[in-house]
Amino acid sequence: MSSEEGVRATNDDASQCKRFAVDKGYWADPYISMFTPKPKQTHAPEISIGYYARVKGLRLLVEKFVSLTKGKCQVISLGAGFDSLYWNLKDAGTNPASYVETDFPAVTSKKIQFIRRSQALLQKITSEDDDIKFSSTDLYSKDYHLIAGNLKNLNELDHKLTECGIDKTVPTLFIAECVLVYIEKTDTDNLLKWITKNFPTVLFINYEQVNMGDRFGQIMMENLRSRECMLHSEYCASIQTQIKRCIDHGFDGADAMEMRHVLSSLPQADVQRIERLEFLDERELLDQLMSHYCYCWAYKDANKVGLEEIDFT
Ligand SMILES: C[S@@+](CC[C@H](N)C(=O)[O-])C[C@H]1O[C@@H](n2cnc3c(N)ncnc32)[C@H](O)[C@@H]1O
Repeated sequence: MSSEEGVRATNDDASQCKRFAVDKGYWADPYISMFTPKPKQTHAPEISIGYYARVKGLRLLVEKFVSLTKGKCQVISLGAGFDSLYWNLKDAGTNPASYVETDFPAVTSKKIQFIRRSQALLQKITSEDDDIKFSSTDLYSKDYHLIAGNLKNLNELDHKLTECGIDKTVPTLFIAECVLVYIEKTDTDNLLKWITKNFPTVLFINYEQVNMGDRFGQIMMENLRSRECMLHSEYCASIQTQIKRCIDHGFDGADAMEMRHVLSSLPQADVQRIERLEFLDERELLDQLMSHYCYCWAYKDANKVGLEEIDFT
């Protein structure tokens, strides 16, 4: 397996884990089953609770951003894989003016096939006078775009975003959900610098590993390495290194939170409901797992839309 294949395979893992948790009732997502088959493998409740916090946490921050900008905004999901957030937001009436997803061509081409095959997915991205343009790897419509490319190639990314009609002066949210850690430090540094240089009003949400210096973190790295997947974890040492990376690359403010604290910040009645879904053998293992992932969010706010208000409170 090549290293790119190893990285791409992490998308299959993420979508299978999400589907498994959805099928168990952790959260509702009528679309995930259209992108990934019923999992053959079962997952421990700790994994499903981890994904619950990841999905709900991201949704909360995204909804705050869209609400604060009154929908006059753009969302760009980097390394989106088979994520179904666009369709779920549509169902909730949370509609950014433009939503762009990017990934390697081998991933976007598969996603396009799934979309073309499903009326439920197609219907959400079509309006009466709106034509969807497809190539084998890219899709352009009025409000949803799926573009192929390597995030290390910023000229190509910039060019394709322009083709999607992205306006750099409009408030823009960049999402990187478990993506940057698979890309070398110099390339992620360049990506963040490119974002802050080009987008004056921007929120960046990053989900990835943290506190990787301990034994638990080392085992996570070794497991992935054995599957041809290298973690570039220079910024995953601590909450502080995550925040500092954002400030060092041009954001005006940044914050970060370990996922165990994100879980405690989500609506607790629902958290109690999902914690009752399956027997949780080891609370300690859950805490350990969730202290090794975090959300980090950072902003620049030239238009003064109030992006510094966005957090988990
Ligand atoms: C762990 S998956 C996460 C997928 C999705 N964001 C989610 O959370 O469900 C990581 C994704 O990032 C993509 N990715 C990693 N490095 C990339 C790069 N250099 N260019 C484009 N996509 C990349 C992978 O192909 C994969 O789909």
